[in-house]
Amino acid sequence: MLQMAGRTWLIVLGASIVIGCYFYLGGFDPESLRGARVVVTGCSSGIGEQMAYHYARLGAKVVITARREARLKEVVAKMKDLGAQEAIYVAGDMGKSEDCERTIQTAKEKFGGLDYLVLNHMGSSYNKGGPFLWDGDMAFLEDFTNINYLSYVRLASLALPMLEQSNGSVVVVSSLLGKIAGTFGSFYSGAKFALDGFFSSLRQELQLKKANVTITLAVLGLIDTELSMNSAKVIGIENLAKITALSAEDAAMAIIRSGAVRQRELYYPWSMVWPLSTLRALFPQLLDWMEMQKFLI
Ligand SMILES: *[C@@H]1O[C@H](CO)[C@@H](O)[C@H](O)[C@H]1NC(C)=O
Ligand SMILES: *[C@@H]1O[C@H](CO)[C@@H](O)[C@H](O)[C@H]1NC(C)=O
Repeated sequence: MLQMAGRTWLIVLGASIVIGCYFYLGGFDPESLRGARVVVTGCSSGIGEQMAYHYARLGAKVVITARREARLKEVVAKMKDLGAQEAIYVAGDMGKSEDCERTIQTAKEKFGGLDYLVLNHMGSSYNKGGPFLWDGDMAFLEDFTNINYLSYVRLASLALPMLEQSNGSVVVVSSLLGKIAGTFGSFYSGAKFALDGFFSSLRQELQLKKANVTITLAVLGLIDTELSMNSAKVIGIENLAKITALSAEDAAMAIIRSGAVRQRELYYPWSMVWPLSTLRALFPQLLDWMEMQKFLI
């Protein structure tokens, strides 16, 4: 009897692993990205830089953006070494509408169309020294929201005509803090929740229009980028962050894969991000309480 229960348990476990792998790998065909026309924003460092290298290795044609031109030159040189069919940079500030226009226009002129728009850039809170207790600083909030929310909408709107023609995809890089509210991050959670709201509506409207354009929301946990680790330090969870943060290189590949298989949402790492997001949706007070513990004890 006991043996049978054990066997059943093993079968259930085995099946779960197989199903898990199926959803994780999701029939991803790396060859599907050879020659794909891609725009990735925010590529001077972190996850954006790693995505640029992965797309290059997979033989895509890529336009990358960031503000620092010297860094972009280095990234583009490495992308060419790695096998990118084309690697072009646009140095610009996505907070400026003309730079957004220049980015999408570059893809149009150089590639004649677009298959993937990967929105990843991030205007940081460095000028405030990192995350902070909300202090009513509206000038900061307007600037932050412009770069981290409005520009995402602007770039997607500019790219949609090309994406509709190619049956393309928009990939929006978001965060666990776009699903649960984070203490000291009101400005950040505000922008990231807004992305979920806007792009989830847009997804429905595209279906209504029978436009074959998919939207992938990538909900990321803590990744070991310089920006995230500095933020963790400011709010005093540096040690926890060092143990739990995942590599930007792996996160970048997970995002690319989820876009390529036209997944609705990516939770990465699933085991941490999905349960917390779900808990917030079902028991928001419980999650608030859990979050406060790390600051109150
Ligand atoms: C895009 O998808 C539509 C169906 O939704 C199909 O008829 C069309 O041929 C596809 N176009 C391209 C460029 O793949
Ligand atoms: C939408 O486009 C994708 C990618 O080109 C294609 O695989 C899929 O079959 C299309 N869906 C429909 C409903 O035509």
